[in-house]
This record gives sequence, structure tokens and C-alpha cells, in this order.
Amino acid sequence: MPRFRFSTASPAAVRADLLVLPMYTGPRPGPGVEEVGAALGVDLAAAYAGSKLSGKRGQALTIPTFGKLPAATILLVGLGERGEGGTDALRRGIGKVAPQVARFRRVATTLAQAADGELEDAVQATVEGLLLGSYRFTRYKTVAQDPSERRELAEVTFLGRERGQATAARRAIERGVVIAESVAWARDLVNTPAIDATPDHLAREAQRMAREAGLRVKVWSRDQLERGGFGGILGVGRGSSNEPRLIELRYQGAGRARPIALTGKGVTFDSGGLSIKDSAGMEWMKADMGGAAAMLAVMRAVGLLKPRVNVIAAIPSSENMPDGGAIRPGDVLRHRGGKTSEVLNTDAEGRLILADALAFLAEQEPRAIVDAATLTGACMVALGTELYGAIGNDRDLVRAVLDAGEAVGEHGWELPLWKGYRRLIDSNVADVKNVGERWGGAISAALFLREFVGDTPWVHLDVAGTAFAEKPGDYWPKGATGSPARAVIRYLLEDGAGAPAAG
Ligand code: BES
Ligand code: ZN
Ligand code: MN
Repeated sequence: MPRFRFSTASPAAVRADLLVLPMYTGPRPGPGVEEVGAALGVDLAAAYAGSKLSGKRGQALTIPTFGKLPAATILLVGLGERGEGGTDALRRGIGKVAPQVARFRRVATTLAQAADGELEDAVQATVEGLLLGSYRFTRYKTVAQDPSERRELAEVTFLGRERGQATAARRAIERGVVIAESVAWARDLVNTPAIDATPDHLAREAQRMAREAGLRVKVWSRDQLERGGFGGILGVGRGSSNEPRLIELRYQGAGRARPIALTGKGVTFDSGGLSIKDSAGMEWMKADMGGAAAMLAVMRAVGLLKPRVNVIAAIPSSENMPDGGAIRPGDVLRHRGGKTSEVLNTDAEGRLILADALAFLAEQEPRAIVDAATLTGACMVALGTELYGAIGNDRDLVRAVLDAGEAVGEHGWELPLWKGYRRLIDSNVADVKNVGERWGGAISAALFLREFVGDTPWVHLDVAGTAFAEKPGDYWPKGATGSPARAVIRYLLEDGAGAPAAG
């Protein structure tokens, strides 16, 4: 992890291996460009334009200073249109060139001056963009990496205008680092293949994290789940030789106030069970614990950043496999709290394990419940891969979480909890069945979940489209993204600490 600092040094005078300066589409370059150009005796904006670059996001030009400046190399990086995109333009712009930036040891930048808004958000977004954009999953690579893939980054200096900004910058740096590290950890968990990332592995990682972040943790074993009546978690896990777990985490930052409750789908591999998927359908199913990983990351960030809010998490984890003990279509499971579900498709397993966790959380009478799950292909069909779906029984809560996501560049869109479709999950033999009809599949999944939250305000985030990426994004390589961890962290840090939306 590089060291981040704040300084009011002039960009023309700062000592660095790389000086990163922002550019925009349009005539006026970003902060520092003219000053540094004057010191160097060249028109940097003209050099940029001369290289046929227009300032679009991520368009970068490297210029050596040949010993004429304390900074050895300049990187002009495009952020898009001036005044557009807010702090997310910073996160995405620097994110795109982060692998290139991270090859240098000592980096300085005026990027924090580039957003019109708060310096604090700008610094945080830049830290996140740099760290998340240079994230790579190398655990299973044994062949020496190409020199251009090396990470040398040791120190990043944010150049600001006023001394008075130092405290805010330091706070923002801490936030950015904690959040980016938490998200990177979630990505590691998701990218780790299911042969290693079993429910027990998730639980052990959570325990290690809880020690580091100062959280209380309890891992429920198979026997304990049995005694606790968690029939959904157990049922889904029956066809696997890897035992299921429930991971309970607690953070107390607001005395005896009612907590906000979190859960996430932790299916470490989704083969579909006896309703088996084809091989293409299974290709990414090691990532079916993306919701769980994101919520674990949220708990880590909360533990380290210590907002004034109480948070509890109960994260169910099972592996959905089809051995001789597996649940069959037509089987009935008894969930935590006693409600029963008829399993007509063993591939609709996420809702079965979440049902137990939601019922367990509702018992604790939280102010609100937020769940994240790679739940339905239908949600991907509806919203694509840039937006998660948000469905809940409390429109203000849905709005609050969507607004939090908006603020950090993790966007979602509301889908309706349409009562008219409730009849689609009526069962002949049990309280509810686990599949509706094909159409509106994201909604019938949410209607199933709603059966288990009682009257608690609740929002479900269907991240099937956003938790992992088949193509690289501005600040993630192909694979896990960490979505929606940053949205939920933002919600807990801003609204969660007392807004009426969650009250
Ligand atoms: N994990 C899948 C959903 C999924 C699909 C996530 C593709 C990411 C990418 C989930 O368990 C599932 O299989 N859902 C089924 C539900 C259906 C059987 C009602 C689906 O979406 O097809
Ligand atoms: Zn699944
Ligand atoms: Mn499935």
C-alpha cells in the first residue's frame, strides 16, 4: 500500500518520479498544466493536442522533463468534459491509467483540485481510482510478470492550494484507502476459485478480518445451523461436500441504537444443483458469492472507519452442487422462523439461503435491512451490466441507497415490488415456491425474499449484472468489481447514521 500525503507545494517545484496533471476536452487545461508548462518552457496543452488527444477520459500523454523540473516525468490525463461527471470523472479517469501510474515510485498530482465539488470527495475518489484501477488478481500466477505489469507505487502526494485543506484531505485519504482495500479484498474473495473459496474459507477470512477491524464475529457451524432451524442454508448446501456456514458480524458505533442489518448471497459455486446449468452458465459461478463478499467488505470498512451507527451482518454461505444428498425439485424446506418453501428449481438457490438470513436479521428488530445478491439473470436482462436492481418495501430506503450509490459512481435503478405478481409464487404444498414464471424473474425473486423480512424496512440489491465483469471497466480488470460495497458503505457513512429514511 502506498503512502498518501497532502502538500501545498507547487506542481512545478514538487519532487516526484511522475507528476499527474488533468486535461479536459475543450480549450482550458486542468490545474497545474500552465504553471508546469511555464516552468518547463513548453506549451503542454499544445503538446497534448499535437499528439491528437482531446481530453477524453483516460487519454494520456507521457512527457519526460529531462532534468528541467524536480518531477522527472509528466502524465497528462484526460478527464472528459470540464464540470461533467463530478468526482466520478476523477475515479474513472485516474482509474483508467492507474496501472501505468503505479509503475512509478513517487507520484504527485493536482487531481484533487480538478473537481468543482468538495476537496474531500475528490481526494477520496482519486485514491479509490488509483488503488482499484491498479488492482490485479495474481494469486495463481506463477510465471514472472512483464515489467510493465510491475507495481512500484510507494508514495502519492496530493497537491492542494491551501494549508487549511490538510485535515480534510487526510480524512479523505483514510476513507479512500480503507474503502479501496476493503473492495480489493472483496474482489480477491470473488476471484478466488470455488475449489479454494468454500463457505468455510469465507468464514475464516471473515474471522481474520473481524480481528483486524475490531468486529464481533460468530460463525455458525452446520450443527448449529441445524439447531437454529436454517433449512434454506442447509438445504442448498446438502449436495456439496463443503459444509455451509452463516457468518454473523457486529459493529457498535452508536450505543444502544437499533442497528442497520446487512446480508449478502454467499453461494461459493452455483452449479444449479440437480436443475443443473450448462457449462457456459457455470463459467462465472464462482462469483455467486459476490453479494456476500461485498457485505463483508462493507463490515471491514465500517469497523475501520467507525461511523456513529450500529451494524449487524448475517451472511449465509452454501455451495450449490448436485451429489446424492442434494435437494430435489419438489422438496420442501423449512426456513428460520418456520416458513416453508417448495423448491421447484434447485437453481433458484440464492433466495433459499437469503430467506434464512433475512428472517434471522428481522428477529433482531433492525432499523433497516439491506441485502446484496447475484440473484437473477432476469435482472441482468432488464438493466444490463452497469446497473444493479433495487427492490424494496420502503421507497425512501430504496431512494437513500440508490442516492448513496449515485454519489460514489455505483449506480442502480429501482424495480417494482409488484404485489400483483405475488400469486406467481403461491405453492400447492408449502407457504411459497421458489420460482415464479420466467417473465419478471427479478421481481418474483424479490417477492420471495419479502416473505421473510416481516415489517422491517428492507431493500434488496440484485447485483447479478454488476458484481463481476466479463470486460475490463475504467477501474477494474475482467472479473470481480466489488459492487455494491461502496454504495452501501456510503449509505452507512452518510444516511445510515441517522437519516429518517432509515429511521
Ligand atoms: N446465480 C444465478 C443468477 C445469475 C445468473 C447471476 C447469471 C449472475 C449471472 C441464480 O442462482 C440463478 O441461477 N437464477 C436463475 C433463477 C431461475 C432458475 C428462476 C436464473 O436467473 O436463471
Ligand atoms: Zn446463484
Ligand atoms: Mn442458481
